[in-house]
Amino acid sequence: MLYIGIDLGTSAVKLLLMDGEGRVLNVVSREYPLSFPRPGWSEQDPTDWVRETVAGIRELTAGFDASQVAGIGCGGQMHGLVALDGNDNVLRPAILWNDGRTASQTRWLNTVVGRERLSRCTANIAFAGFTAPKLLWMRENEPELFARISKIMLPKDYVNYILAGVHCTDPSDASGTLLFDVEHRRWSREMLDICGLREDQMAAVCESSQVVGTLRPDMARELGLPETVKVCAGAGDNAAAAVGTGTVGEGACNISLGTSGTIFIASRHFGVDRHNALHSFAHADGSYHLMGCMLSAASCNRWWMDGVIGTADYAGEQRAITDHMLGRDRVFFLPYLMGERSPINDTEARGVFVGLSMDTCRADMTQAVLEGVAFGIRDCLEVARSLGIDVKRSRICGGGARSPLWRKIIANVCGLELERIESEEGPGYGGAMLAAVACGEYGSVQEAAEKLVKVTGTVEPDPEIAARYEVQYRKFQEIYPAMKGLFPVLNG
Ligand code: XUL
Repeated sequence: MLYIGIDLGTSAVKLLLMDGEGRVLNVVSREYPLSFPRPGWSEQDPTDWVRETVAGIRELTAGFDASQVAGIGCGGQMHGLVALDGNDNVLRPAILWNDGRTASQTRWLNTVVGRERLSRCTANIAFAGFTAPKLLWMRENEPELFARISKIMLPKDYVNYILAGVHCTDPSDASGTLLFDVEHRRWSREMLDICGLREDQMAAVCESSQVVGTLRPDMARELGLPETVKVCAGAGDNAAAAVGTGTVGEGACNISLGTSGTIFIASRHFGVDRHNALHSFAHADGSYHLMGCMLSAASCNRWWMDGVIGTADYAGEQRAITDHMLGRDRVFFLPYLMGERSPINDTEARGVFVGLSMDTCRADMTQAVLEGVAFGIRDCLEVARSLGIDVKRSRICGGGARSPLWRKIIANVCGLELERIESEEGPGYGGAMLAAVACGEYGSVQEAAEKLVKVTGTVEPDPEIAARYEVQYRKFQEIYPAMKGLFPVLNG
């Protein structure tokens, strides 16, 4: 049988067709616009996701035997607020995971409701990108629209609704709403009350590899697929990427370098970061994970390459950066182009180059961008290490992971052995794997991960380069605290 994996990302939807043995038969990517209506705001039109996903599925399956398609699984950008009215029409553009407009609602939640109570109810504190602060923002700023909300959906759940006609979500994605009791994998009544919401406004929670429905007949016709195709609940993109890279089981780690940068540490047991700097979320295999999320990762490099120096030749630019230069750059970059989530939780922070001199060249700045992201990941890893979690090895996926130089920098900055996977389409491959489990091709997510995910290479840290980066990291750690007070002044 065949399975479709959907990675509903921020810049594009990436679709993948997988057979029952895990072979990737086709991959399609379709972009859609992302709008920044004001500095720090980030929105998308859910109908763009649907249009491109539908067109993408048709393109993906063209030339294949459609009668063999058995299941669809989606990994989607997390936290985005899709508000539906009583007729299931979208009430406003979706407010995305990297939107920073909710600074005051986030502050209210963390101080007035209190971090302790939030953490007790949901295992997390408030971060600006989470869904609950967005709902509070809507209540304050768009009260008429807020009063008309009949269903609150997350991005991939809205796409699943269009495909299968059901309002469902899964624990991994629901975890990022701050309305979900992560430990018990159900909505938190207390948090819903705090935010003035009712449980009937929330989607039903199904485990990620559970079937939520089959294709709606009109949708099946439009896609040219059988009505029997099963749609599974799917997962937040990071949990889906973890499945797709085989990051299941105690202590397994995955780094994703997409628009966001995440470090995902799986655990069989529920646990909360006592600093609340890392998110404590449910995993797509029925267990849990801790995660640090940087708001801008591969997007920093994209901004620098496409937007500033104006080149599409990423590899060519990176060829100028030799091993000798690693750990010796005098330029540093703070990668906070959209503010930052983990671990500093600061919507006011911004990108910074520091240490420029008359001999600074283009390659030094390119290198500083790649290193700034690596140092940001190291910041999250240090929080995990401070909790006694000993990570020595990680898988890596996402667009940025295609760069051998960036992989080498991350391995050395973080002191991690980095494993590359045959399929680099983390969330899409994970989505297809979840669909295969939902259709009974595999007995569990764990079994699918063991049988399908293949490591193709490992990058080991080099002791000399890693030692140089240790010194550089200490310097990097000085920069944000020194600048922190300045950002609100600059932004004001
Ligand atoms: C995770 C997060 C991002 C988005 C990106 O908490 O906000 O990784 O899921 O798609």
